Amino acid sequence: MKKVRIAPSILAADFGRFAAEAQRTELAGADWLHCDVMDGNFVPNISFGPDVIAALRQATKLPLDVHLMIVRPDLYAERFLEAGADHLIVHVEAAHDVTKTLALIRSRGKQAGLSLNPATPVKQIFPYLDQISEVLVMTVNPGFGGQAFLPETLEKIRELRQRAPQLDISVDGGINPETGRRCVEAGANVLVAGNALYRHKTLALPDAIQELRTYVER
Ligand code: DX5
Ligand code: ZN
Repeated sequence: MKKVRIAPSILAADFGRFAAEAQRTELAGADWLHCDVMDGNFVPNISFGPDVIAALRQATKLPLDVHLMIVRPDLYAERFLEAGADHLIVHVEAAHDVTKTLALIRSRGKQAGLSLNPATPVKQIFPYLDQISEVLVMTVNPGFGGQAFLPETLEKIRELRQRAPQLDISVDGGINPETGRRCVEAGANVLVAGNALYRHKTLALPDAIQELRTYVER
């Protein structure tokens, strides 16, 4: 059973204080910092680019788990790697040569990851499993935080874990202690969470991270 990691998604943090939020997240005991890059094309939202990743790089030692929700990740992968991304996750549905983009990321000594949307059959990423270290299973349709978890994605996690025991399987979207627990039981080991952590109704960030970690590991 791979170690469970908590990766807060900075999309749900204070956009006016990204550096301070990254430091706060590190101090709060997070394992990774999940950074959602959106181009307004692949998803109907625009978030931030490589210069923000560079600023986050200066602000924290946390591994930057950069999620490219962009149509052409091949055109921008180098920029995000130079900016300091430790893991670069691209979408199998985007308009690029997946193998080439993954090879580029690995050639820079960084972790290559592949993400698939809820509607994408899990078999679509099977040809790439030996080219990546992380699969990011979208448990909502990408573009916005705060959406409801899609339980039909659990079956994909189970199938992936069976086929790839060594991979980091991340889940992303609508993750809270209850949905996170179901994902870990299905085989996920990295929990990306935005609203459930940065906008927890009662708990401060460190306690919200601890609550998620203990609840899913029980
Ligand atoms: C959605 C992003 C997710 C999102 C998660 O497109 O990829 O990382 O920020 O946010 P929550 O946890 O609030 O659903
Ligand atoms: Zn994400």
